[in-house]
Amino acid sequence: MANSIKIAPSILSADFAELGREVRDVCAAGADYVHIDVMDGHFVPNLTIGPGVVKALRPHTDKIFDVHLMVAPVDSFIDGFIAAGADIVTVHAEAGPHMHRTLQAIRAGGAKAGISLNPGTPAKMLDYIYDMVDLVLVMSVNPGFGGQSFIESQLPKIEAIRKRIDKEGLDIDLEVDGGINFDNAARVIGAGANVLVAGTATFTGGPAHYAENISRIRNAGM
Ligand code: DX5
Ligand code: ZN
Repeated sequence: MANSIKIAPSILSADFAELGREVRDVCAAGADYVHIDVMDGHFVPNLTIGPGVVKALRPHTDKIFDVHLMVAPVDSFIDGFIAAGADIVTVHAEAGPHMHRTLQAIRAGGAKAGISLNPGTPAKMLDYIYDMVDLVLVMSVNPGFGGQSFIESQLPKIEAIRKRIDKEGLDIDLEVDGGINFDNAARVIGAGANVLVAGTATFTGGPAHYAENISRIRNAGM
């Protein structure tokens, strides 16, 4: 089971003045996906990365770019991020106005489609779009910043989504994002997540610790 766990370091916690090296370092340290947090200062109260930065990072690794768009409205940015090298494009169910159309546009652009739920949003928001997504991202903090505390009430939501994925035999990654650390990772995996985003927990201690940090999170469920 633990071998099927993927770790997606969020480069929000990386040294932004050294992003290319940071991406190479976390990939060499065992990252499965590179999680890229895109914030628009509107859907969330912070500004981060645009397609130009994704494009600049693309030559630094062949690993999957897992691009988390905290952007509303988002549709006009999708093609730009795909052209920049995003492999998975995840949008928020709350971002609107037409989640179904947005997911169609991501797949039509040639990327894998992800849908994300904020902590206050119920799993049933996804009821009619499971066949349109390759990844479900459960936020375990309110999006906008790294370094926040894990919200425990999201565990039953993760369990419910896992149940649905398994019941229907769907090929969907179940990713959890926010406040994941060495202590709670086992519970997140136990609830059914198979992709763990980790910003603070990956980058703590600097490059010499990335491999150990990543394997501690990955093996937490063993
Ligand atoms: C929050 C972002 C997360 C966050 C994770 O809006 O989506 O990816 O940076 O960082 P940690 O692991 O520090 O909570
Ligand atoms: Zn994220």
